[in-house]
Amino acid sequence: MKFKEGKIIETFHVEKNGKKIEVVIRYPKKSDLMQIWKFYNKAIRESEGLSRYSFVPLKDEKKWVGNVIDGMKKRDKVQLMAEAEGKIIGSVGLERKNVERKKHCGDFGIAILQDYTGLGIGKKLMTLLEKDARSINIKLIELGVYGRNKIAQKLYKKMGFKVAGKIPKCVKTRKGFDDDIIMYKVLKK
Ligand SMILES: CC(C)(COP(=O)(O)OP(=O)(O)OC[C@H]1O[C@@H](n2cnc3c(N)ncnc32)[C@H](O)[C@@H]1OP(=O)(O)O)[C@@H](O)C(=O)NCCC(=O)NCCS
Repeated sequence: MKFKEGKIIETFHVEKNGKKIEVVIRYPKKSDLMQIWKFYNKAIRESEGLSRYSFVPLKDEKKWVGNVIDGMKKRDKVQLMAEAEGKIIGSVGLERKNVERKKHCGDFGIAILQDYTGLGIGKKLMTLLEKDARSINIKLIELGVYGRNKIAQKLYKKMGFKVAGKIPKCVKTRKGFDDDIIMYKVLKK
């Protein structure tokens, strides 16, 4: 992975509501801040699948963007943004575990805006992320997905992830609690 802020990794087209649109996958840049802030707060409102449910203040988002860019420079993080119709519509990230014995493992997260789901963008982002993960010597990807999030579970199984186990009712939802399903994928060279 040769990180450069804003570098384009891939461009492709998808059909959305009968219209062909261009999707650009690229690394984040500092000037994305307002776009990322808008994107992430919208994703939080739309989905119960993400790790947080409350609004992210701008100052926290600014810190996050800075940390991601620093992490990518240090080869401890990989973050890809998907851009379409003039805005950020998706994001995938991986962070090297900060544990001496687990430095070859990374924690994973993904979000696509509802309007852009089911178009293959999630699969594409994951494939490209795995490529960069290998290049920074990540050998295993780990994630937690909520029991009710069947769509994400299907995507992960399709991408070769295996279920390690389940932690019952450890996730707070609007209505009560949900399980956390832990999945992993060993990356082959
Ligand atoms: C889960 C998520 C990332 C999937 O991204 P996506 O771009 O819609 O996924 P893709 O279009 O690449 O589809 C990949 C696979 O997911 C499954 N999938 C996607 N949309 C689906 C739907 N509406 N119903 C059932 N399965 C679906 C399918 O298995 C699909 O493969 P296929 O097209 O070969 O059948 C996206 O729905 C999302 O961001 N959801 C909200 C946030 C979230 O839940 N993040 C994950 C946290 S663990």
